[in-house]
Amino acid sequence: MCGIIAYRGKRSAGEVLLHGLRQLEYRGYDSWGIALKNGHELEVVRRTGKISASAPKLARHKGLQLGLGHTRWATHGGVTESNSHPHRDCSGSVVLAHNGIVENYQELKRGLQGHRFSSETDTEVIAHLVEKELAGGAPLREAFRSAFLKLEGRNAVVLLSGEELLVAKSGSPMVLGLGDGESFVASDVPAFLRYTDRAVFLADGEMAVIGDDVRLYDLQGTPKPLKEETIEWSPEQAEKGEYPHFMLKEMMEQPEALLRAGNLPKEDLAAAVAMVRKAKRVFAIGCGTAAQVANLSTYLFSCIAEMPSQFAIGSEFSHLKPAINQDTLVIAVSQSGETADLLEAVATAKERGAKVLAVLNVKGSSLMREAHHTLLVNAGPEKAVASTKATTAQMAVLLLLAHAVAGRADEGKRLIESASRAVREMLSRSEEMRALAQRLRDRQNIYIIGRGMNYPVAREGAIKIQEVSTLHAEGIAGGELKHYALALVEKGTPCIVLGSGKDILGNAMEIKSRGGDIIGLSPERSEVFDTWIQVPDLGPASAIVQLVPLQLLAYHLGIARGMDPDYCRNLAKSVTVK
Ligand code: M6R
Repeated sequence: MCGIIAYRGKRSAGEVLLHGLRQLEYRGYDSWGIALKNGHELEVVRRTGKISASAPKLARHKGLQLGLGHTRWATHGGVTESNSHPHRDCSGSVVLAHNGIVENYQELKRGLQGHRFSSETDTEVIAHLVEKELAGGAPLREAFRSAFLKLEGRNAVVLLSGEELLVAKSGSPMVLGLGDGESFVASDVPAFLRYTDRAVFLADGEMAVIGDDVRLYDLQGTPKPLKEETIEWSPEQAEKGEYPHFMLKEMMEQPEALLRAGNLPKEDLAAAVAMVRKAKRVFAIGCGTAAQVANLSTYLFSCIAEMPSQFAIGSEFSHLKPAINQDTLVIAVSQSGETADLLEAVATAKERGAKVLAVLNVKGSSLMREAHHTLLVNAGPEKAVASTKATTAQMAVLLLLAHAVAGRADEGKRLIESASRAVREMLSRSEEMRALAQRLRDRQNIYIIGRGMNYPVAREGAIKIQEVSTLHAEGIAGGELKHYALALVEKGTPCIVLGSGKDILGNAMEIKSRGGDIIGLSPERSEVFDTWIQVPDLGPASAIVQLVPLQLLAYHLGIARGMDPDYCRNLAKSVTVK
C-alpha cells in the first residue's frame, strides 16, 4: 500500500526521497509525489504512473535539506495528480503524506467550512485540520497532535512545516532512521537502509518530532525514550542485483533462507513450545499466502506432534470469537507483520485473553509488538508482491516447531537441511518450468489438486499463478473433485497433480478420463501423467519442496503472458487497510 519517506539533514533531499520512493515501489502504487523545502519555498511535484518514467529534475539548494515523498495506492479518489500526495492546507505552509484511511473524513470535512479543498482524498482533511488548530493559536506540535487524535481508522502521517517533520501513527507502519546529523522517516526500512542501519520503530499511539534532534512522545504529549535498534539486513539484500526481477531473486534465495529459518535461537523455540503445550486450543491464522501456511501448520502439528489445531483466515477470525478464551493460543503467520486484517484478528484474540505467537519475517513490525512471543523466520527483505522465500521459511519454522513440540527438534532441523538441498536442486530446473509455462500460457484455467499437506500447497500454488500471471488457477483437495470440480474438466483442461499416492492418482485418473491434461509433480512417475516433473519425497518437509516448482511456474507464466512478476495487478505487498 502507500509508501512514505521523509528526510531532514545535509544530503540532497531530492535524491534521498527519490531513492526512498524507488525502494518502496514494491508496496504497489499508482501515483507518487514529493515536497521539498527550498529555503522558504516549497517545491511540490506530483505524478501519476511509475517513478522512473517521469522522475523530474529536482532543485538542489544549499543549507538544510528537508522534504517528504509518497507513493499512493488509490483508495479515496481516482488516480490523478491532484489526488496524489503530498497534500497541503489552504496557506500551503503545512504539507503532509499519509498511509491508511481516515474513516471519519466526511464528518471531519463538514467541520472545515471555508477551507478550500483541491482533492477528493481523505488525506487532505488532515492538512486542513492542522491549519484550523494553528489558526486557533495552537503551536505546531499541539496542532498536529490534536488533529491526529481526531482521525478514526489505522493511519500514519508525516507532516512538514517550517523546519520540522512531525510523525504519528495509529496502525499503518512507520519507522525512523537515525543518522549522523540527519533523520529519516519511512514506511519501511529499505527506504533509508543505504544511509543508516539505526532504526526506531514507532508503536501505535506514538508521535515523533524531528528538528535538530529527534523526540518521541505519546499522543497525550508525554515524552518517551527512543528505543533504537540495529537493522541486520544489508542494503544489497534489498536490491535486485544480477536478477531481472525481485521475485526470481527471492525464489533463488530460498536454500539459504531455509537454513536460517532452521537455525532459530534455541530459547525462542523453547518459549514457543511452552506456549503450544500450555494451550488447550491452538488456532493458526494468516491472510492470502500466509493463510495457506497457517493451514499447513495444522497438518504439521497433527502428523508430527499428533496434536489437534485449527486454521482460520485472518479476516474471518472474529466470526469465531466465541471459541477464543484465555486457554487459546493464536499462531499468527505473516511476512510483513502489518496486514490490517491479521492485526485486527490478533487484537480480537488478545481482548479475549488468548496468547499470541507470531511467525514473522519483518522484525520490529506491528505484529511483533502485539504478539506475546515471536519466531522470526529470517528470510531477509522480500520485495516482490508475490511472497516466496518468506513463505517457505515460515513453513520451515512451523515444521521445526511441530517437531520441537513432539520433543524431536533435531530431527526437524535435519529435515529442513534436506529441504534446503532439494529446493536448490528444484531451482536449478527452472527451464523445465519455463517450458511448461510456454505450453500453458494461453489456457483459461489451471487446476491443482493435492491431499493432506499437499492441499494447502495446491492452494498456495494457485495463489501464485493467479497473482503473478492473472491466469485463473484453483487449488482443490483431491477428495473434493467428484463433489463439484469435475464439472469444470473438459478436453485439454490442465490439471497439476501433487504427489503419487494411491488416492491422488485415483483423482488424476478421474480427470484424465474426462480429457484432462495431467501434469504430475511427484517422487514417482505414473502412467496417468501426461507430463512428469520429479519432486523428491522428504516426508513432512515435502510441502516446502513441492511448492518451489509451482512458484517457478507462476513466475514464467507471468513473463510469458507479458506481466511484470514483481507488481501484481491491483495488489499491494503490504495490505495495511481493511
Ligand atoms: O505480509 P503478510 O504475510 O501478512 O501478507 C498477507 C497477504 O497479503 C500476502 O500473503 C499476499 O497474499 C501475497 N500477495 C501473497 O503472495
